[in-house]
Amino acid sequence: MRTRRDLDPALPEPDAEARAHAERVRRALVAALDARGGFMPMREYVDFVLYAPELGYYAAGARKLGAAGDFTTAPELSPLFGAALAAQVAPVLEATRARDLVELGAGSGALAIDLLRELDRLGARPSGYAIVETSPDLRERQQQAIGRALPAWRGRVAWLDAPPARIDGAVVMNEVLDAVPPDVVARRGGRWHERGVTLGRAGGLAIAERALDDPGLETIARERFPPEIDYASEIPRAAEALVEDLGRRLAGGALLAIDYGFPRSEFYHPDRSEGTMMAHYRHRATSDPLVWPGLADVTSHVDFTGVAEAGARAGLEVAGYASQASFLIGCGILDRLAATGDPASAAYLRAVGPVQTLLSPAEMGELFKVIALERGHAARWPAFARGDASHRL
Ligand SMILES: C[S@@+](CC[C@H](N)C(=O)[O-])C[C@H]1O[C@@H](n2cnc3c(N)ncnc32)[C@H](O)[C@@H]1O
Repeated sequence: MRTRRDLDPALPEPDAEARAHAERVRRALVAALDARGGFMPMREYVDFVLYAPELGYYAAGARKLGAAGDFTTAPELSPLFGAALAAQVAPVLEATRARDLVELGAGSGALAIDLLRELDRLGARPSGYAIVETSPDLRERQQQAIGRALPAWRGRVAWLDAPPARIDGAVVMNEVLDAVPPDVVARRGGRWHERGVTLGRAGGLAIAERALDDPGLETIARERFPPEIDYASEIPRAAEALVEDLGRRLAGGALLAIDYGFPRSEFYHPDRSEGTMMAHYRHRATSDPLVWPGLADVTSHVDFTGVAEAGARAGLEVAGYASQASFLIGCGILDRLAATGDPASAAYLRAVGPVQTLLSPAEMGELFKVIALERGHAARWPAFARGDASHRL
């Protein structure tokens, strides 16, 4: 799970093989820094450490998700997460002609398996399942997992490098927007800077800031940052462009994004004066994004107001916005939990802890949010029947 609860500067030491990988990444970063005159904007640095072929966190083969990895996501915690989500995906599919189902960044394949299994059970099968996955390592893992768990779906799941040109159905993404590299801007004494990475002492990497030379970025930061005070934060232009692009491809149906974050007034709160970027390594988190480049996941919270605005630019409307707890309860997760067995049964006792983690305000229940952006008003939205907080965006 990825919450600040785990914030701990004492990260575990990588083993020798991992250290050798980190050293390869560091050397490649130094070469890239040299080629750029010694400064790399933070967006490019995060893109490099996450996605550089054979080097980046999501591009090199290592175990990332789950107990043996660096963090645990909701689909890894409990199959009831995907089963509950299916209760809202079903009415979206029913309202469309083509019944397309597209998932971005499918991790271990757990969400695809739980969604498809439950949609089958509900008699609300999609026409196919497309996974947009750029990591060759994760793609292979997903193919194996889905092939094993759902033999009937073998050959009916497509792996794509980019979203389909036209989607009429549902797009789902869990913890994807937090993994899209943001720009980082700072205002110091009224002057605008962009944050990036440079070479520090003894060949190490260091955070640096230089004058901002991007009027578009400055305009966005000026609009979003609290007035006057010295302040630094992410401007998630690329994540918002991704949502807008998906919106333009969405001919009918809806996009559901689940992630940790806030509405804009909280994201750019004066107290959050150094932004939200964090690195995760072996279930520990640190606010230093330079730690173990290539071994640690680097992530930022989501500005859900920006997501809603990006959808609006593509002609989508907000169908609902709620905490993960409220959304999953609206999807009937507690009934599904009750159906696992008698409260004293082993099956129930195994299921109840992870569901508590998904719902508890102290864990994932409140920090994680779900936003649904739809084209037209065709679908029913049982998940937002109570607890819709769209007015907070
Ligand atoms: C934190 S992982 C989440 C994985 C999975 N959804 C889960 O919940 O376990 C983030 C994933 O998003 C993927 N991702 C980032 N940008 C993407 C994009 N533009 N299109 C598709 N996937 C993307 C990354 O490659 C990575 O696999």
